[in-house]
This record gives sequence, C-alpha cells and structure tokens, in this order.
Amino acid sequence: MSDPASDPLAQASRAPDDSAFEQFWADLHTPNWADKSPAAQRRVAWWREARFGMFVHWDPSSLAASEISWSKQFYADTGEHLRDNPRPSPELHHIHEHRMWLDWFKPAVPREVYDHLHRSFYPGMFDADQFVATAKQAGMKYLVQVSKHHNGFCMWDTKFTDHQVMNTPFHRDILGEMSRACDRAGIKFGVYYSQRDWHHPDYGPERMTKYNAYLFNQVQELLTLYPNIALLFFDCEQYYPWEMWDGKELFRMIHRLRPDILVNDRCGVPGDFETPEQGVGAYNRARHWESCMTFTGFWSWHGFQAPVIPYEECLRLLVRCAGGDGNLLMNVGPLPTGQIDPRESDRLQRVGAWLAHHGESIYGTRGGPWLPGDYGVTTSRGRTIYVHVLQWPEGELRFPPLSGRIRTARVLSGGSAACEQTDAGVKISVAAQDRILPDTVVVLELEPGAGVG
Ligand code: GLC
Repeated sequence: MSDPASDPLAQASRAPDDSAFEQFWADLHTPNWADKSPAAQRRVAWWREARFGMFVHWDPSSLAASEISWSKQFYADTGEHLRDNPRPSPELHHIHEHRMWLDWFKPAVPREVYDHLHRSFYPGMFDADQFVATAKQAGMKYLVQVSKHHNGFCMWDTKFTDHQVMNTPFHRDILGEMSRACDRAGIKFGVYYSQRDWHHPDYGPERMTKYNAYLFNQVQELLTLYPNIALLFFDCEQYYPWEMWDGKELFRMIHRLRPDILVNDRCGVPGDFETPEQGVGAYNRARHWESCMTFTGFWSWHGFQAPVIPYEECLRLLVRCAGGDGNLLMNVGPLPTGQIDPRESDRLQRVGAWLAHHGESIYGTRGGPWLPGDYGVTTSRGRTIYVHVLQWPEGELRFPPLSGRIRTARVLSGGSAACEQTDAGVKISVAAQDRILPDTVVVLELEPGAGVG
C-alpha cells in the first residue's frame, strides 16, 4: 500500500485542511496583532521587516494622462455615471463625496475614448528587469502592481476577458513579466485587484452571483499563473461587506492556493494590515498598517505638468511611517512608454542612497519607544534606539523617561551626540555642524539586558 503522505493523488483528493483555513479566516477578522495566531504572525514577518515597497498604478489609461478609472467614471458631473455603471447600493450614498473629487479626476475622458485607449497601448520601452531594478535600488523590498483597476482592464493574459493586455498592439503579459523580474531580483511580488469592475457586464447590484464567478476565476488564475504572489491588495472600501464577494469562499480558495499570502483590509475583513491612503498612518503598534502614497497626488501618470514631491519629502514619509510602526507603499505612475517617470526614479534613487547608509534605522525596526512629534520619530531594535530628527526644535530636544540606561549616543552617519538621562527624561543634543538634513539619526545604545519593548 502506498503511503498517503507521499502520494500526490491521495493528497489531492484529501479534504482541504479546514482547521487551518478556519484559523486563517479568524485571523483575518482579528484586528490586533497580539491576538492573532502564531501562523498569522509568521506570515507577516517578511512584510514587517520590509518597511518599504513600490506600488505600481499602470494600464492604458496612462495614454490619457488622467486618473486611472476615475477619469472615465466622472466625465459627466451629474451623477449619470452611476446610472450608466450601476454599482452596488452602499456606494450610492457616497455620491456626495465623489462630487467633491470631480476636480481631482480631471481631465475627464469621454467613455468612447477611454474604452479604446488600449488599442493604442504600446509601451515599447518597458523592461521589467529595469523597472524592478529601480525599486531595488530605492531600497524597496516588495512591489505591488495593479492587475485590474476599477475600469476592468486586465494587465495579464487572462482567459476570462478580452479586455486585457494581450489585446493591445503590445501583446505582452506585463504582469507576468513583472512577477518573474521580481523573482529574479529577490523582491516580493504583490498584486492589486479591484473587486469593483466598471466594464464587466455582470457587475451590478442584482447580478453579483454571476460577476463573482468571474472574480473567483480571475483570482484563482492570478495565483496559479504567478506562483510568487505574496500579497493581495483588494480595493473596496470597508462599507462593502465581504458577503458581497462571497468572501468566505473566496478566501478559502485563496488559502488553498497560497496559505502564506498576506491580505489587506479592503475586502470587508480587517485582514493582515490597514491601508491609510495619501497620509502617514497614526502611531499604532497593535495593528499593522501600510500607508500608500503618491508622488503627484494621482495614482496613474498625469503628465509632466503634475509636480512630483521632492526627495526630502519622500524620505520623510518613509521615516514617519517607520516611526509610527508602519510601512510605506510608495506609488509610481509609469508613462505610456512603460518607463517610470524620470522625476520619480530620481527621488527613489536618492532615497535608496540614503537607505544604503541609514537602512539599519528603518528595516526590521519597530516604531517608538517615544511617540512621533514635530521633531520627528523614533524607531528601535533590541536595545538600540534611533532618534530621527526631521526638524530641530528651537529649545531642547527632550523625551519622557526611559527604564533602560543609555550607554552611548552618536550620529549614525558620523559625528557625536550628547545625551543626558535623568529621572525626569532624556535630553539629546547634536552640534549644529553634525546635524544633517533631512534627517539626523541619533543612535542610542542601552546597557546590556535593557530592552525598549
Ligand atoms: C483609492 C483610489 C484608487 C486607488 C487606491 C489605491 O481606492 O480610489 O483609485 O487605486 O486608492 O490605494
């Protein structure tokens, strides 16, 4: 008799391990990290160390140099788009909020133009290895790419719709190329997938059952075609309940294919991490979080007239995220040529150069022990504290008392720092010539045995 443990046929016909799935499902509903199972804590370990990732919002809409999906949806300002593109009711209550966004999503693109952009999509300069190399040089440890945004266009060779990248003149599986390039470069690969779909004929309040079959097929296809997908970034606000997507069965399928996958909080469950958007998340060590931010205020490419934030600002975002105990997922909006906007590459390269010398104060650290403030933030690992001074106060830089004794203080990039520790607190000073913009990192080493928690 063959041993069932080594017999693939016997394994395949075995009932799925429901207890492991039930644990996964329970963990997705458990917001606070400490309350999750050891399995969930293991799953998130790499992501937590990583701190810095690249978001990629790119599809044929880059040809219109207007916002991905929303520029089509909001070309009429009367709310008509909601009639033309019926969406499940919860969102209808938010028309108001969407009206406010109208300006933001200009220039609006008429539907008859938008829906044909893919016919001219030929990003001839696209080179996935080069793309990923930019992320790597920036010190990013993972990359999350849009596979399908709300507009329904698919950036991979899916067999479930023609509205996809193989039906452009480019005729190349862009998502697949990126997945393999990430693998080669040792960068973790994640996929953004919008459950909303303003192109699919079956998407709408009364028709979700049929649409969900499409959604399930696509998620299964992605996880099967690209075995290195380590993270799923869904994108529907929390007021869409998971029941709408038959979430329990969806996650059962996901778990069967990728038991170690990470899932964000935009599929009706708290998931593995929260996703504050266009702002640094609040200090929180109980709940994992990742801020997603743009260089231009727009997700997709918006032309060269859209200003790009300076390098210093990008660096401050990263430092503030790490100091709040969160990650930064910094977005790039590639050009229709397939290249990262050279201004964004420039900023990224400079952040990478900074990380090459200051990485130990970011990767694998926790936020704290002291709270963020106008001065900057603190990060820590073991008995080392990194004080990131982004803005020197007029007076003294003071912190609340610390239980462990501080043994040494120095500036990470060289130079000395003075530190005075009393029962009243900790005072830090650095001579003017040793202060560095945009971030003076002061390293405090505590005495052996002390921990900063
Ligand atoms: C918001 C935007 C969407 C974008 C996403 C990224 O949901 O509406 O366009 O893709 O944020 O987090």
